[in-house]
Amino acid sequence: MRTLISETEIDARVRELGATLTAEYADRPLTILGVLTGSIVLLADLIRATSTPLRVALIQAASYGGTRTSPGELSINNALVPDLKGRDVVILDDIFDTGNTMVGLYEAVKEFDPSSIKSAVLLWKTARTEVDLEPDYFGFKIPDEFVVGYGLDYNDEYRHLPFIGVMEDDDLQQVGENMSG
Ligand code: IMP
Ligand code: MG
Repeated sequence: MRTLISETEIDARVRELGATLTAEYADRPLTILGVLTGSIVLLADLIRATSTPLRVALIQAASYGGTRTSPGELSINNALVPDLKGRDVVILDDIFDTGNTMVGLYEAVKEFDPSSIKSAVLLWKTARTEVDLEPDYFGFKIPDEFVVGYGLDYNDEYRHLPFIGVMEDDDLQQVGENMSG
């Protein structure tokens, strides 16, 4: 494992994102909708870096099966999403890879009829984007490498690492089917 983005760099950038949201959503009814499970670490840090009134809600998306490192089928669970009518929603995910998850999340969130929907991610793998959508807010553009830490998993592990690390090829195995978002 090699460090791609250090804890210090993440901390500084998350504070900047918090300041941006604070400015852009002042006087607006902001709901930050964290995408389980990958966004939880970012969610906890970003809301504390944001100083305008906001609500926190959760939605679940899973597209990676177990130890696979390429996209699988997308499944979205909206059972935890509260009433969003009249709210300005920022969908918060860990990473924008192909973008298919974020497109699916937009569709799912539209059903709740919010005033506006924007997207925010910590990481954006720009070379792999397959959709017309781009994240409205992002922390870092990264190369096409499989990363873990700060919420991102491989086979549901490594989420607790305080930095973003790159998995070396030897560490990755193309087996397993368990869902982990
Ligand atoms: P997308 O639909 O291809 O944009 O994939 C988004 C989802 O795939 C993210 O929410 C992550 O759960 C997962 N993902 C994509 N790339 C990585 C990675 O490098 N490491 C860990 N998870 C990833
Ligand atoms: Mg995820």
